Amino acid sequence: MKEESLDSLRVHYYKGELLENHAGSDPFALFNLWMNEARNSEIKEPNAMILSTLRDGRPTARVLLLKGLDERGFVFFTNYLSHKGEDLKVSPAASITFFWDHLERQVRIEGIVEKVSEEESTLYFHSRPRASQIGAWVSNQSAIIESREILEEKNNRLNEKFANTEVIPKPPYWGGYLLRPDSIEFWQGRPSRLHDRLLFTKTVDSWKRERLSP
Ligand SMILES: Cc1cc2nc3c(=O)[nH]c(=O)nc-3n(C[C@H](O)[C@H](O)[C@H](O)COP(=O)(O)O)c2cc1C
Repeated sequence: MKEESLDSLRVHYYKGELLENHAGSDPFALFNLWMNEARNSEIKEPNAMILSTLRDGRPTARVLLLKGLDERGFVFFTNYLSHKGEDLKVSPAASITFFWDHLERQVRIEGIVEKVSEEESTLYFHSRPRASQIGAWVSNQSAIIESREILEEKNNRLNEKFANTEVIPKPPYWGGYLLRPDSIEFWQGRPSRLHDRLLFTKTVDSWKRERLSP
C-alpha cells in the first residue's frame, strides 16, 4: 500500500472548545477536569508527559509519567543521577507538555523544579511493583552500558540479593521531583486552525488568564 506523503496528512479538529466562561480562574481545577476526561477516554497513558530540561543551554526532552498533582504542583519520579537529574541540579527551570490526541488537547506547563522529601519518595517507592523497585537498583539511568546482557546479569544478581528481603530499601539516588508551575497553557483544537488557547500566569496570590492567538 502506498503511504500518503507527510505533507498531505491533515486532521480536522472538532471535538471541543475552550471558552472563558467554562475555563474558570483556577488552572489546577481545569487541569484536573481535563486529566479526568483523558483518563475516561481511550488514551492508554493519560499521565504520560514530556519533560523538557536544559543541558548546557540546549533543550532536551523525554517522556515521563505524572504521579501526583496537588496544590504545590506536578510530581514525577526518576533517578536523581540521570541526565535529567543532572540537568535539574544545574538549571531547575523546566517544562511539561501533555498531548491528548484523542481529545485534541495540549497542556504546556512551565515552572521551577525541586526534590520532594525523602519520606514522600520512600512512600511512593514502596507502592511500586517489586520488580520495579529492584529495577531502580539495577539501572544506573542514562549511563552507557556495554550490552543488554550486563543489565540482565545485574538484574539477576540483585533479585538473588533481595530474595529474602521483605522491604526493599529505596536507593538514595532515586526519588521524586515537584514542578511548581508559574504558567499553564491549555490548547483545544478547533476547526480551520482557529484553536482555543488560554494561558494562565501566576501572580503573587492568584492566576492571570489571557487568550492567545492560535
Ligand atoms: C511512556 C513512558 C513513560 C516513562 N516514564 C518514566 C518515568 O516515570 N520516570 C523515568 O525516570 N523515566 C521514564 N521513562 C523513560 C524516560 O523517557 C527516559 O528514557 C529516562 O528517564 C532517561 O532520561 P534522561 O537520560 O534524559 O534522564 C518513560 C518513558 C516512556 C516512553
